[in-house]
Amino acid sequence: MRIAVFGSTGGVGRHFVNQALEKGMAVTALVRSPGKLAGLPEGLTQVTGDVTDEEAVHHTVAGADAVVCALGAPLLDKSGIRATGTASIIRAMKAARVNRLVSLSSIGAGDSYPLIPGLYKYFLGPLMMERMFADHEAQEAEIAASGLDWIIARPGPYRDGARTGTYAHGVTADVPDRKLKFHINRADVADFLIHQLSDNTYLHKPAWLTS
Ligand SMILES: NC(=O)c1ccc[n+]([C@@H]2O[C@H](COP(=O)([O-])OP(=O)(O)OC[C@H]3O[C@@H](n4cnc5c(N)ncnc54)[C@H](OP(=O)(O)O)[C@@H]3O)[C@@H](O)[C@H]2O)c1
Repeated sequence: MRIAVFGSTGGVGRHFVNQALEKGMAVTALVRSPGKLAGLPEGLTQVTGDVTDEEAVHHTVAGADAVVCALGAPLLDKSGIRATGTASIIRAMKAARVNRLVSLSSIGAGDSYPLIPGLYKYFLGPLMMERMFADHEAQEAEIAASGLDWIIARPGPYRDGARTGTYAHGVTADVPDRKLKFHINRADVADFLIHQLSDNTYLHKPAWLTS
């Protein structure tokens, strides 16, 4: 399987690339700083560029069986790069006839907002997470309108730790008591993304994901 990855040098992206290579997948990653992906297993092709560079994005996506978007930005970033970058990826996918997009978003985006604890809803959210949620919601809207085969992963807050392979996931309606364990290991988020490359349980759905 050939996978194109955006955000490969990030916290989750690097775990994803590592796990995909270990599974024998061929990975093409768009990177702004190629040195950041040193020391990974065989099978990685790097394309140097920015996600706003349409030619570099097209080059990354061409020939892929699926695309993973793990783009991110600092909480107070105003660029909206998750949404604009994802729009650029979608254009390239359509031009290259690549159909499957698996993208990171965040728990709290869209109809999952009621799932986040009061600390986030009433304090951290208004203080520092509004731009991030707005960017993810614009990103999710781009994906939902894309006409592609898509899956959106909405993880809880990240923490370090090994891949356990055992974590909870579902759609918003699957949490009747609105109570979730909240954090999740980056390595498990990557594990979930790997599964979404071939599992259709959440096709055309946003899925929350926690430990
Ligand atoms: N942190 C959390 O607890 C949490 C929880 C749920 C969801 N999320 C979401 O999960 C996503 C991934 O988070 P993360 O912590 O793994 O991300 P991260 O470590 O901040 O990494 C972001 C990635 O995006 C790349 N990127 C940013 N702007 C780019 C551009 N213009 N062109 C090309 N690449 C660009 C970065 O490349 P460089 O290395 O070149 O900068 C990096 O690879 C984010 O969207 C975040 O909102 C985070």
